[in-house]
Amino acid sequence: MRGLDDIETVGVVGAGTMGSGIAQVAAQAGYDVVMRDIEQEFVDKGFDTIEDSLARFVKKDELTEGEADEVVDAIEGTTSLDALADCDLVVEAASENMEVKQSIFQDLDETVPEDVVLATNTSTLSITTIASATEREDLIVGLHFMNPVPVMKGVELVVGEKTDQAVVDLAHDFAEGLGKETWESDDKPGFVTNRILMPWINEGIRAFDEGVASKDDIDKGMTLGTNVPMGPLTLADHIGLDICLDASETLHDELGDRYKPAYLLKRKVDAGDLGKKTGRGFYEY
Ligand code: 3HC
Repeated sequence: MRGLDDIETVGVVGAGTMGSGIAQVAAQAGYDVVMRDIEQEFVDKGFDTIEDSLARFVKKDELTEGEADEVVDAIEGTTSLDALADCDLVVEAASENMEVKQSIFQDLDETVPEDVVLATNTSTLSITTIASATEREDLIVGLHFMNPVPVMKGVELVVGEKTDQAVVDLAHDFAEGLGKETWESDDKPGFVTNRILMPWINEGIRAFDEGVASKDDIDKGMTLGTNVPMGPLTLADHIGLDICLDASETLHDELGDRYKPAYLLKRKVDAGDLGKKTGRGFYEY
């Protein structure tokens, strides 16, 4: 297995919000990065997200313009899976769909050298089931980053049924090298964070739908009342309502009725109002 000292190039599958954030923090930590998505327009959008984020660090004098340019230059954008063949660690951050993830991991297993650790950024799906699509189940681990990746300090490590302890240790060391802190979760639905966060978000949505308070007062009550940076409706918009619904449905399927997604969450997703990214969720952007 390739250890931390062997890692020069990090592969990232997916250039969306999470994938581009992971590519950025890996490049900021000094790695060469290959960021792959299926369409060039998704890769381009990933670079736009990275450049916006880097501009914030430049504005605060935490990076110079030259350093920000170096971060962008360290990232190779591609639509080719073969471009990941020379990576020493790969983090997958594609859609939250088991079939999609298994197919990606099967392809990665055939493309990437057999001693390379393959991590998934899945937020709720089983690491063990994803790993079963490969011949290297011991080298598969969950590296669950938080959104926005460049500012959130935490990374959840998820240990699959067959994940080797050396892989868990490597995942800790790699995440810490990116300036993050880690905690471990067993491979149970939603792990630690989403198991607890999604019912909180769904209860906020239900409280709004049932007329307990206005959306502003629900968010105000939770931010000022419990000292969290965002209330449940703002946070749902920030994460993406489609992501919240996928996560809630996985929890509901696996853990039963206490995880039933709120009716209004489904209605909003059906209407295409997915939060910040579409300009409208519970709020307008
Ligand atoms: N890149 C770089 N910097 C960024 C950034 C980005 N993408 N987004 C925000 N920032 C910086 C800003 O520049 C600002 O810096 P400063 O305070 O030094 O000037 C700072 O972060 C705060 O940003 P803003 O002033 O724009 O706004 P806020 O004060 O509201 O902070 C926030 C934004 C950091 C997102 C904060 O609201 C927050 O922490 N919210 C909660 C986020 C959260 O809970 N994320 C986890 C969601 S769960 C998850 O991801 C798991 C998944 O599986 C669902």
